[in-house]
Amino acid sequence: MNKCKKLAQYLVAWYPNHARDLPWRRDTEPYHVWLSEIMLQQTRVEAVKEYYKRFLNALPSIENLAAVEEDHLLKLWEGLGYYNRARNLKKAAVTIVEEWDGKFPDTYEGILSLAGIGEYTAGAIGSICFDLPTPAVDGNVLRVYTRVMEDASNIDKQSTKKKIREQLAEVYSKGQCGTLTQSLMELGATVCLPNGMPKCEECPLMTLCGAKAHDTWQKYPVRDEKKSRRLEDKTVFVLQCEDRIAVRKRTSKGLLSGMWEFPNVEGTLIEQQAADVAGQWNTAPEQMQMSFQYTHVFTHVEWRMLAYYMTCSQMCEEFQWVTLEELEHEVAVPSAFRPCVDIVKQVR
Ligand code: ADE
Ligand code: SF4
Repeated sequence: MNKCKKLAQYLVAWYPNHARDLPWRRDTEPYHVWLSEIMLQQTRVEAVKEYYKRFLNALPSIENLAAVEEDHLLKLWEGLGYYNRARNLKKAAVTIVEEWDGKFPDTYEGILSLAGIGEYTAGAIGSICFDLPTPAVDGNVLRVYTRVMEDASNIDKQSTKKKIREQLAEVYSKGQCGTLTQSLMELGATVCLPNGMPKCEECPLMTLCGAKAHDTWQKYPVRDEKKSRRLEDKTVFVLQCEDRIAVRKRTSKGLLSGMWEFPNVEGTLIEQQAADVAGQWNTAPEQMQMSFQYTHVFTHVEWRMLAYYMTCSQMCEEFQWVTLEELEHEVAVPSAFRPCVDIVKQVR
């Protein structure tokens, strides 16, 4: 039997007794699996759990998702990042209701045609929900595969992903497609770890694995060199007038597009300069309460923030002035500005 076939067989046998009990593994309803895979794309399992439950409580069906207001949707997504994921979920839900008669498409091509669904997600939904032989090749799977096979292809190349997807597709068999997809992900997440030593001693692929045999796991997977993050300094304004706080909506383009933020400018301003800027905004700044610093790390950029908390006496038209209540329950504030909300709460 070829090595890839054995890999599949060993993993499918291993999975039932080793899989974590996760909220999205309780059933194979396509809406549930879809939502979880989208949330898990850039976010850790532990962080996703609560978001996943809250989201389905608020929007239990695809029809509910198709009809949700964007503000409500973004609030449900607040803190998860990559907010276009949420917008695409809604877009796809509208398509399912309008063009698929409310029924989730059950072919790979149909699934792939939906907004925000790429080859990985289509493969995951196809195999888990519809028992299709469609591998879902993510970072976990690439790591497991390249280690077992001692495959030194660069996994950042589309051609490598395609090759591995095709290799794996050949060993998917009816009745086990979902289990194989999930077992590959699970092994990558819990045994063949991304950071630090893999737990080869408890791995069901131990006898098969080239990297284990030759102690070469550190060589795989081969990747592009990482580009370093661009650093940006920003000065942020927590402006309070009576019991309201100034926020504004970001433009519809670029990083955090369409999200709410605290007013901010490029560069690091000293206190007097910050007071001057607040004055130019016609907020009539009165008193500097405090300042604080923090950093926020995105994929390609790192923001170094200096925030000033000022009271002022004029609610200028340039900003929306919201209560702490609204800030907490209605306005979707991305994590990059979360420390500003926390400060307002603390000072109260
Ligand atoms: N990462 C991506 N998809 C996953 C899933 N279905 N379960 C656990 N971790 C995952
Ligand atoms: Fe990864 Fe070790 Fe298992 Fe090989 S034996 S797949 S390196 S955990």
